[in-house]
Amino acid sequence: MKTSAVVLGLMVGLAAGTPRLAAQAAPDGKALYDKNCKACHGSKGVPPAALAKRMKTPTIDEAYLAKVSDDSMARVMENGTKNMKPMKGKATPEDLAAIAKYTREVAGGSKQ
Ligand code: HEC
Repeated sequence: MKTSAVVLGLMVGLAAGTPRLAAQAAPDGKALYDKNCKACHGSKGVPPAALAKRMKTPTIDEAYLAKVSDDSMARVMENGTKNMKPMKGKATPEDLAAIAKYTREVAGGSKQ
């Protein structure tokens, strides 16, 4: 289902000659995380001490990740929280899924 949507998107993109094909086919979770999340959550889910204190930013680690699904993380990003701006309208569902996946890899320790 998802693959066919991507293939269809590629075909439509090719037909229209759009240059954004690569970005649409595979959002870069690391680039998106670094741009949108790293300032507050650190490069691996551990927030800088000053921010952790000021905003009570939680540490995203294996224990936290065990309790949440990628989907629920995507909802958090989409809708925002007290201190996180909602990304609704600024990121596609594919972008949010890529960020959630990257967050799980890097904060869960499977990626350095
Ligand atoms: C401005 C700083 C800031 C940015 C940018 C930010 N966060 Fe957060 N995040 C927080 C704070 C602070 C909390 C704790 C809840 C609150 O106070 O809003 C939080 C909570 C969370 C939680 C736990 C939510 C819960 O209650 O289950 C997740 C997951 C999360 N952030 C992921 C992300 C991701 C992924 C991004 C990038 C798309 C991001 N955050 C960007 C500050 C930030």
